[in-house]
Amino acid sequence: MENARPNWTSRFAFILASVGSAVGLGNIWRFPYIMGQYGGAVFLFVYLAIILTICFIPLVAELAVGKITQKECIGAYESVSPKLKIIGALNPITGILISSFYFVVGGWIINYIVLGFINPSVNDYAQYFTNFTQNPVSTCVYTILFLFICIFFTARGIKKGIEFANNVLMPLFAVILVGLIIFSLNLPNAYQGLEYMFKPDFSKICPQMFLAALGQALFTLSIGMGALLTYGSYIKEDKSITKSAYTIIFSDTLFAIMAGIMIFPAIFSFGLEPNSGAGLVFVTLPHIFSQIPHGNIVAIAFFLLLSAAAITSGISILEASVAAFIERLHLSRMKSSILLFCIVSSIAIPASLSFGVLSSFTIAGRGIFDFLDFATSNLLMPLNTLFLCILAGWFLKIKGKMFINNEFIAKIFDLGLKFIVPIILVFLLYIGLR
Ligand code: PFF
Repeated sequence: MENARPNWTSRFAFILASVGSAVGLGNIWRFPYIMGQYGGAVFLFVYLAIILTICFIPLVAELAVGKITQKECIGAYESVSPKLKIIGALNPITGILISSFYFVVGGWIINYIVLGFINPSVNDYAQYFTNFTQNPVSTCVYTILFLFICIFFTARGIKKGIEFANNVLMPLFAVILVGLIIFSLNLPNAYQGLEYMFKPDFSKICPQMFLAALGQALFTLSIGMGALLTYGSYIKEDKSITKSAYTIIFSDTLFAIMAGIMIFPAIFSFGLEPNSGAGLVFVTLPHIFSQIPHGNIVAIAFFLLLSAAAITSGISILEASVAAFIERLHLSRMKSSILLFCIVSSIAIPASLSFGVLSSFTIAGRGIFDFLDFATSNLLMPLNTLFLCILAGWFLKIKGKMFINNEFIAKIFDLGLKFIVPIILVFLLYIGLR
């Protein structure tokens, strides 16, 4: 059994795992469809402005809180006052709720990989997707299968499980992504997709776009549910957190842009619409793959890419709770993983059924899956990030000068951590709750 406070084998292993956490469905599934809904390039510009400035602060804060306290989320808050344990506990709770819908999508991906092998010639993907998501047995089985794959790696521990998965899956992800980009850019009229991505029409700018961009940035960087705090707590050596934060932001943004370069040229080349929402990856793209020679190989490659990204992120979501169970309940890693498997399945199964047999069951006017997505991305993640900034800036008194050499930038960091980011988050929460 691995002891309760393991460490990364190297700084590279930590960065790779953090990038693996950040780069996930948020980059390849969510980012292109939100960009499509907000008119392409203009959203990219707003998103870049936000992710490169505002998000840097809570990202550094989350890693620093983990590294300084050397505790998982609950312990990190408890180190200030035992009363704050409850606030810390919101992190694993958010993680469990996120995993419950994230793993449903993970299950869909595994199903599409299997489909690529057994039945590459589906005629109508919209119909296929509806039938599949409404079928109670297949959605449950694939959701549990995906959860099992991720929990397998967390149960094996930091070195043999999490580092191993990232070492194998992240290079696989990068190679497939580059291959698919080359393929996509060689399609007829690919330049139209690039124009859509990089030529902004600033008349489309609107306030909701800023909120959507900030919500997407927090989600994609895995900020606000304790995953990176937990990963940060496994850092021992005194290495620069700001450099790590920049590497995570840079890689995550690069991969999101690369995902767009892979997807939009293909969409424009086939004269399809880029604003088809969540179905972009599960309906529009498979439709394109079905029309090209050897399309099933491209489809399998694409869904393998997606599964690699989703598994490394899924692992990080689970690890925040596994670490909390190990340290709070004094369970072994294996028992914590089994307990988490049971808890997540009990929420993920109803979520996976919410497109079919449980479609009439709603919470606050939304189906279970949509409610979990809404409650975590719009409420719990910003709320946890707000508490984190307060913990880091006001209680742990984390200061920019601890990691930033430039005095002026360090001052801006302090101002951002204590005032600017919290105010923006309160505003985001207010809009999210309306
Ligand atoms: N960042 C992941 C993605 O973009 O898919 C999602 C995620 C992972 C969110 C881990 C939160 C988290 F703690």
